[in-house]
Amino acid sequence: MQSRKSSLLLEKDRKNIEKLYLDLVPKVPESKQTCKLTLPDGQTFELPILNGSDGPPMIDSRNLYAKTGYFTYDPGYTCTGSCVSQITFIDGEKGELLYRGYKIQELAKTCDFVDICYLLLYGELPSMQDKKNFDTTMKNEMLVHDGLISFYKGFQTGAHPMAIMVGVVGALSAFMNEDLDVKEAVQREISAIRLVAKMPMIAAIAYRTARGLPIVYPKKKLSYTANFLYMMFADPMDPDYAVDEYLAGVLDKILVLHADHEQNASTATVRIAGSSIANPFACVAAGIASLWGPAHGGANEAVLDMLDEIGDSSNIPECIKKAKDKNSGFRLMGFGHRVYKNYDPRAEIIRDVCHEVLDYLDMKNDPYFKIGLELEKVALSDPYFIERKLYPNVDFYSGIVLNAIGIPKSMFTVIFALARSIGWITQWREMISEPVLRIGRPRQLYVGHINRNVNDRTERENSYDTLSVLTDPPKKGFSIYKP
Ligand SMILES: CC(C)(COP(=O)(O)OP(=O)(O)OC[C@H]1O[C@@H](n2cnc3c(N)ncnc32)[C@H](O)[C@@H]1OP(=O)(O)O)[C@@H](O)C(=O)NCCC(=O)NCCS
Repeated sequence: MQSRKSSLLLEKDRKNIEKLYLDLVPKVPESKQTCKLTLPDGQTFELPILNGSDGPPMIDSRNLYAKTGYFTYDPGYTCTGSCVSQITFIDGEKGELLYRGYKIQELAKTCDFVDICYLLLYGELPSMQDKKNFDTTMKNEMLVHDGLISFYKGFQTGAHPMAIMVGVVGALSAFMNEDLDVKEAVQREISAIRLVAKMPMIAAIAYRTARGLPIVYPKKKLSYTANFLYMMFADPMDPDYAVDEYLAGVLDKILVLHADHEQNASTATVRIAGSSIANPFACVAAGIASLWGPAHGGANEAVLDMLDEIGDSSNIPECIKKAKDKNSGFRLMGFGHRVYKNYDPRAEIIRDVCHEVLDYLDMKNDPYFKIGLELEKVALSDPYFIERKLYPNVDFYSGIVLNAIGIPKSMFTVIFALARSIGWITQWREMISEPVLRIGRPRQLYVGHINRNVNDRTERENSYDTLSVLTDPPKKGFSIYKP
């Protein structure tokens, strides 16, 4: 019987893939300059400087501890490079984003999501024939194992689809682990294709489970994105149900814009999880968990919550005031970015898409859009946002577009995860391909107690009542805690 790992790719492809992947392994550039570090005792050390093809130079601190006995302190890795990469590049000051060297604006105009998957995975845009072959390979891998579908039954109706995604994508590793050796280029290839191909069905079932709707299977004749919409929205009582092609194109553009974004929180999570040579599907589940938060991918859902809370343009000044007040704990959702200190190029593209879609749907008076535009105008003319270079990011408009085309709010971040799966797995593959792979292991500046003595339990002060918020179980009768 043909083994599962060789069923997708023939032996003749194996050598091509191994050769291709050698070119896709980024090399650490040679250092041509150094800088000097002077320690408090006056000793000086030379540290190499590394220059990439673009972006700020980096001080190579790999040997810093060995040479000096010092670590560096940089919470949130605001100025720390953790890898060399040749997949995606952002110039935050200019507001520029490149996938494999191509500007996002050009790609969004001329390519669909399958082109982008190909580009990210193989480093080049596909020819007509390549695209056809790749598309067929993806379609052949779209179905999920029937056993995986049982996992969804464990979630109650109303569960957040992102909670389901974290569980089910992690569960994929139970189906693809035994015969998966991530050290083999071919198997990394198969894992990447399987993940991206199966994500639409995994995401669509998450939605249908949350709604208590029956599962719909993909169709070979539909495109990647149309298949996702079909599996999400097909009416089981309507055999003629057809996906609106224009709206499928709009969603496809959103997928293109979200496909990859350098070393963001979720990608860094996938890389750090993968650095222990863990199962790639489990690593992607970790990335999904990281993406869910409102400071990252969850922002698109949070933008709509915020616009709901504003309710009317007359409440915008109050909202801006709250966002500027550090004690309020509130931030303007969909605004600001760790790297972009200029307009996020994806937000510019999606803002135009937003105008077109609302025209198409005859929804020019959409309250979210009206309040969003006004909020953007007010924020961009406020010194607080100008001084801090806080511009709308991609999530500011993507939620408005997704809502307009009929996607429920709880699925916004799931769609982000669907799009980002290609970025995560490409970044994971790049990392695993490196000849020397080091486990991710940050340092800490320890500021806790040292050298305490353990007292006898009877001598310790009672503190549990003040430390714990959980109440005692009832003392009499029979009862059981609600799980
Ligand atoms: C994206 C984000 C997490 C980046 O955070 P960061 O790089 O750590 O930026 P900082 O937290 O250092 O913010 C810098 C300054 O701008 C302020 N700021 C940043 N984003 C803000 C926002 N959305 N609303 C109000 N103030 C904001 C901070 O309070 C800080 O002010 P200070 O210098 O007076 O202390 C942050 O901008 C944010 O929370 N945005 C809202 C959530 C969002 O849209 N996330 C999606 C990102 S694609």
